[in-house]
Amino acid sequence: METQKQLTIGLFGFGVVGEGLYKVLQQTPSLKASIKKVCIKNPGKKRNAPDSLFTSDRNELLFDKEINVIVEVIDDSVAAFEIVSTAFQQGKAVVSASKKMIAEHLPEILKYQQDTGLPFLCEAAACASIPVIRNLEEYYDNDLLHGIKAIINGSTNFILTKMFEDKLGYQEALLLAQQLGFAESNPKLDVEGYDAVNKWSILLNHAYGIVEHPDNLVFTGIQNVQSGDAAVAKEKNYDIKLVAQAQKLVSGKVAAYVIPQFVKHDDQLSFVKNEYNGVVIESGFADKQFFYGKGAGSFPTASAVLSDISALRYNYRYEYKKRYYHTPGELTHDFYVKAYVSFSSLKDIVKEDFEWIEEWHGGLERSYLVGVIHFEKLATQQWWKAPGVSLILAPDPVIESIELRNIKKRSLELAGIGN
Ligand SMILES: NC(=O)c1ccc[n+]([C@@H]2O[C@H](COP(=O)([O-])OP(=O)(O)OC[C@H]3O[C@@H](n4cnc5c(N)ncnc54)[C@H](OP(=O)(O)O)[C@@H]3O)[C@@H](O)[C@H]2O)c1
Repeated sequence: METQKQLTIGLFGFGVVGEGLYKVLQQTPSLKASIKKVCIKNPGKKRNAPDSLFTSDRNELLFDKEINVIVEVIDDSVAAFEIVSTAFQQGKAVVSASKKMIAEHLPEILKYQQDTGLPFLCEAAACASIPVIRNLEEYYDNDLLHGIKAIINGSTNFILTKMFEDKLGYQEALLLAQQLGFAESNPKLDVEGYDAVNKWSILLNHAYGIVEHPDNLVFTGIQNVQSGDAAVAKEKNYDIKLVAQAQKLVSGKVAAYVIPQFVKHDDQLSFVKNEYNGVVIESGFADKQFFYGKGAGSFPTASAVLSDISALRYNYRYEYKKRYYHTPGELTHDFYVKAYVSFSSLKDIVKEDFEWIEEWHGGLERSYLVGVIHFEKLATQQWWKAPGVSLILAPDPVIESIELRNIKKRSLELAGIGN
């Protein structure tokens, strides 16, 4: 049996995650891993660790021959990519939690791994404590993975839970999330879906071998969800969640997006409340599996980093089987989705974009419709993301069959709302 490697770590970042890892490692002496040096940005800050451990000179870590692992947990994606690139060039294994950096540099990171044979592990970057990346890599064969749907941003889930359960308005719920430390002081990255789509880009790679820049994925956040939408959802016995979804279509191509969705009460995702994350994986023979846990926070995130460090002792690396040994998945916009759209003014929506409309409710302050729209329209049009318009996908929103469309199509004119 292979002997365990001694790991000498150069740690970048001593914030929420970095300090958490420092504490967790102190409690795990059996790991044979020690932090030799920590690089931070502001040398003047008071730290809960000996001064001699810290430096603000990144080269002290990157060019130290004794350090064989770089753990990068900083909050600056540009600097993070420079650090990771140099670490590879210096022959060091890398563990990172920086989802934005990873999502924006997937092709380069894959190439570095191919060229150097060095491991790059990033379990903490998506869903933190939930071991979803390694499961997608190791367990689910490409052909068996029918779909994944997930709640991968704790802040938005917290806000939606408060809108539902405590009947808070959106702004009140956001303020509470900020007060409790679940949302950034600039909450745009969370509430407008940027954080979720970065994670989704990383997970699509491990699930289907798809390498797509997050800017090219169709996504939005919960910034336009109204209390009135929550009331409609309640009437219909649904929750509203920001759902990241990927589904393999009959064509073999993959539908993927991050968009708010109505979720039935018996759906596993309905169980995921407050700041928690959840992932439902649907595979050929196993049916559905549900992963649930903390998707952020100091120790939950550090636990995923720790698990990656531990895996390095046995030279574990992602093989990217879906990408290199199978035909990689291909994204498509060629399918339809059923969606609910609420709006305060008819001129804010383009009703002609819908193939057919199944429900129409006019109200004094807001109206809503439920209709079927081609996904390419969502990919190319912006009206559905504009302030005042709230689009929420139906449960099981994907409609693949054109036949179905022909059978079910009811024109806007027939519904009496054509003009
Ligand atoms: N927080 C979570 O729950 C969580 C979960 C999953 C993933 N992540 C990811 O993990 C990373 C770290 O998050 P965090 O919450 O720990 O951030 P944080 O609390 O803001 O800490 C950031 C750390 O990075 C250091 N830093 C910033 N720029 C640097 C540079 N150029 N060189 C060296 N150090 C630098 C900072 O130094 P100073 O201390 O001197 O300011 C600080 O120690 C982010 O990419 C984040 O997206 C976080």
